[in-house]
Amino acid sequence: MAKNGNISASVIKRLPRYYRFLGELDKQGVERISSRELSEKMKLTASQIRQDLNCFGGFGQQGYGYHVQSLREEIGHILGVDKEYPTILIGAGNLGKAIALHINFETRGCRLVGIFDANPRLTGETVGSIAIRHTDEIEGFCNSEHPVIAVLCIPKANTQAIADKLVGLGIRSFWNFSHYDLSIDHKGIEVENVHLGDSLLTLTYRTNQMPEGPAE
Ligand code: NAI
Repeated sequence: MAKNGNISASVIKRLPRYYRFLGELDKQGVERISSRELSEKMKLTASQIRQDLNCFGGFGQQGYGYHVQSLREEIGHILGVDKEYPTILIGAGNLGKAIALHINFETRGCRLVGIFDANPRLTGETVGSIAIRHTDEIEGFCNSEHPVIAVLCIPKANTQAIADKLVGLGIRSFWNFSHYDLSIDHKGIEVENVHLGDSLLTLTYRTNQMPEGPAE
């Protein structure tokens, strides 16, 4: 049983990666794995892995390692993948469409139930199996479907206003791509701001640190 009440934020950040690696091992039919083997695959130290996974108690056993399937299930449970949070996406432009089509919401505890855009020319167009609705319909939709997560793929300038409105309509969590670091002054609201460009910058930083010349 997980002691998941007080897992630190840094461990939580690593959990999706553990979940993904364990899923791949499970698919390959691997039943158990030692912290050393897992550390080689994940490029973390074995002690970091033991420390992280100790949070869940009872999985790593001396001389046995981790039972891949049970550990994956437990981490999945902590991450909430066994939930079905109704989710809406706002902004069906290039990014919004790509996310709606390429992110597997179902395997991540979410169900994409609605897509909205302020541009009336997009109304009725389908993305995957979902028809884009005009933003005028958001209120009625939220009142009947009760979505709890919103994915924001709209320009920076429009983000805070729409987020505030959505909080009033019952949205509790925001996956925010809008290049605006959303802050919500309401208790009990979660925001995950995503900037793909930041990830590229960490790569350019590491590229900057490389010695000149060809790779070994
Ligand atoms: P886009 O212009 O193709 O699409 C934006 C869509 O949002 C349009 O269809 C527009 O009608 C709609 N929209 C604008 N205001 C709205 C509102 N208040 N309510 C509902 N819909 C609204 O732009 P694209 O390429 O899809 O990018 C969207 C945003 O995401 C941009 O602000 C861009 O800078 C940002 N972005 C962020 C990334 C990240 O890593 N966080 C990566 C790429 C883009």
